[in-house]
Amino acid sequence: MTNIPVGILGTGSYVPAKVVTNYELERRLDTNDQWIVERTGIRERHVICEQEATSDLAVQAARQALEQANLLAKELDLIIVATVTPDTPLPDTACWVQKKLEAVNATAFDVTAACAGFVYALAVGRSFVQTGLYKHVLVIGAEALSTITDWNDRNTAILFGDGAGAVVLGAVEAGYGILGLDLGADGSGADALKVPAGGSLLPASLATVIQRLHFIHMEGNEVFKFAVRIMGETANKALMQAGLDAQEVDWLVPHQANIRIIQAAAKRIGIPTDKVIINADKYGNTSAASIPLALDEAVRDRRIKRDDTVVLVGFGGGLAWGAVVIKWLY
Ligand code: UT7
Repeated sequence: MTNIPVGILGTGSYVPAKVVTNYELERRLDTNDQWIVERTGIRERHVICEQEATSDLAVQAARQALEQANLLAKELDLIIVATVTPDTPLPDTACWVQKKLEAVNATAFDVTAACAGFVYALAVGRSFVQTGLYKHVLVIGAEALSTITDWNDRNTAILFGDGAGAVVLGAVEAGYGILGLDLGADGSGADALKVPAGGSLLPASLATVIQRLHFIHMEGNEVFKFAVRIMGETANKALMQAGLDAQEVDWLVPHQANIRIIQAAAKRIGIPTDKVIINADKYGNTSAASIPLALDEAVRDRRIKRDDTVVLVGFGGGLAWGAVVIKWLY
């Protein structure tokens, strides 16, 4: 089997202009800034406006990633969008992105693995380049979680935000790019984090809307415990596959669900907090978008640079999780 080394050639990110601060949430919910900051680390989040959709965020992030990779949209062979908030149930958001980018030579599809979605999509995209089937794959994590957040529920309304991050994958010199990868899922935990209605089990109806079943329902404590445990396990498996240990990691880029989860997980893996990229304070939990958003920020401000060992770790609804170890190319 062909085994071409695959790496990231460019990154990009985008958040919508509208900001909702904790103080604004204080006015409509029984909560306060101090509680939210102490329990989550989140201070504000960006949300889309009317007429904006997930693909609009994805396209902006994609354009930046293409520019950094020095590629034109027509040079893309494949577009994968990781999202749980598609523009439309049918077709895939990746098809809307393909149209808007005019990426006329690319095939396109979505991957749905909730907050682990970007890592899953990266794994799928990698295999197409690794086997020589495609040369350039655009992988995007994009979400408009504000559209499935119950703004009357203080347990969840404080957590989520909208945004997008993108990377372009391609062949790289040997020794660089993706060196280790781990993915996993445990459907027995599916009830812990879900949107109950809107699928084939409970199609949309007046009753499902009245019962607020189209919003995210989460058992926060359960997810918290799972997250801390699984982040360590999956990161260590990916590192082992890469033949590296935690001391050799330059940057951990975790899913930005909650700063307390991130800190506890980093401690378990054995990575000091000053090597962890955190931006949940500005964007909240943007599900599949959070890892590429944080990654792009750290690449653009030059914290992440050539020869750095970078570990991406995602976890969330499914339950699903995954980690990727990358030797950074540029
Ligand atoms: O993307 C992946 C999926 N999501 C996650 O990873 C989220 C994982 N979970 C979490 O981040 C945390 O569990 C939360 C931030 C959601 C909650 O924090 P917690 O420390 O687990 O709080 P708790 O649920 O144990 O609640 C403690 C108290 C409760 O009051 P009582 O029962 O002790 O009187 C809650 O009712 O805090 C109350 N509470 C709030 N108070 C003020 C819950 N939400 C709020 C709020 N403001 N927004």
